[in-house]
Amino acid sequence: MKVQPKQILVALDYDSFNQAERICNLLNPDKFRIKVGKQLFSAEGPKILEKIHKLGFEIFLDLKIHDIPNTVYKSLLNIFNLKVWMTNIHLLGGQEMIQAAKQAQTESKSNSILVGVTILTSLNDEHLKKIGFQDGVKTIVSKLSSLAKEALLDGVVCSVEEVKNLKKTLGDNFLTVTPGIRIEAKKGDQNRVATIETALENKTDFIVLGREITHAKDSSKMINKIESYII
Ligand code: C5P
Repeated sequence: MKVQPKQILVALDYDSFNQAERICNLLNPDKFRIKVGKQLFSAEGPKILEKIHKLGFEIFLDLKIHDIPNTVYKSLLNIFNLKVWMTNIHLLGGQEMIQAAKQAQTESKSNSILVGVTILTSLNDEHLKKIGFQDGVKTIVSKLSSLAKEALLDGVVCSVEEVKNLKKTLGDNFLTVTPGIRIEAKKGDQNRVATIETALENKTDFIVLGREITHAKDSSKMINKIESYII
């Protein structure tokens, strides 16, 4: 199993910098990137990004922005000022909202990568039926990804099982970021899960790993194990 340096994004789903720092201190910024999501960002605010940048890490700011186009545009202008390596919107906000996000990226001349969340990996066809979607996960992920590509977004967040098809239809350069990754097959609250090995076989660009590291009995041991896969 060959993982590229910085291909794994470690999700620091904590309530404070102190807790997050414990894991940061175990990670080498030449080998891993950090994902900051709603939990840590809502507890610590934008200053958390500065602190993690100071430790030498590149950051994926995962706020899954989803609102009316004007609000998304204005929020993304603010986010691009934070100089994160990658950030995202939620594609269910629709075509105009996606275009507004892209406009913010273009106008701010940002180098940050902008990707769109398709369907959360915690959801399956049954969940979608309950909220009134006629199509299943596969079809909706394809449709949303095409909208993202049309709007010139850099890629999408999807599950490993969708990567092959998206790369085939939208091209190898269209980035895929895949959460719901486990070292060994098990699910928890994620429904569309896969192992690192399958993620690599399917040629995903970036792998999000959260609780496998943060909730491991021995996080240090787990990080060493994952590091042994990095070439
Ligand atoms: O590995 P673990 O399941 O703990 O990682 C989940 C992380 O990935 C969380 O931070 C969650 O917000 C994020 N995520 C997700 N599904 C998506 C997008 C992001 O689980 N579609």
